[in-house]
Amino acid sequence: MRRGDVDAVLQLERAVYLFPWSARIFHDCLRVGYHAWVVTDDAGRVLGYSFLSIVLQEAHILNICVAESERGRGLADQLLDIMIEAATAARVESLMLEVRPSNRAARRLYKRRGFTFLGRRPRYYPASEGREDALLLCLSLVDA
Ligand SMILES: CC(C)(COP(=O)(O)OP(=O)(O)OC[C@H]1O[C@@H](n2cnc3c(N)ncnc32)[C@H](O)[C@@H]1OP(=O)(O)O)[C@@H](O)C(=O)NCCC(=O)NCCS
Repeated sequence: MRRGDVDAVLQLERAVYLFPWSARIFHDCLRVGYHAWVVTDDAGRVLGYSFLSIVLQEAHILNICVAESERGRGLADQLLDIMIEAATAARVESLMLEVRPSNRAARRLYKRRGFTFLGRRPRYYPASEGREDALLLCLSLVDA
């Protein structure tokens, strides 16, 4: 992902999430050097994106998103593959992420990819009524 992709990424983010990241968050993520990718079609249209932070032996998926019209054809798998590759190259031992318990598609994806439950962060996310917990999931990359 380059700075020039942020407008298209932001548009997708706003179409998908009820509580989207702001333009400032995207720019800050790029500025501090988080790893970020876009998946595009042949015309360069952004279909999906992801953000990964790597600190010492731990990597954290901060965002992974695929346009609604493009779901169910493995784009999230491609994004996960590239994040796992980057984390493995950085000798990271585990890949973590948070997911809403209500996010069934994402939970199915992570389960299929071997993520396991590590814990629950109470009231982690904003929700339409109050707050929603996060499930903390982990994928071990040791001997992967
Ligand atoms: C989670 C997400 C990234 C998965 O993207 P994707 O490219 O569709 O991923 P996959 O093709 O591997 O599909 C993942 C699961 O979603 C479900 N799914 C796929 N296509 C779907 C569709 N058109 N409608 C509803 N669910 C669908 C399936 O259950 C699939 O699981 P399966 O592989 O066991 O059948 C995508 O749904 C998304 O962007 N969601 C909104 C943002 C989000 O919640 N991100 C995760 C934050 S933790």
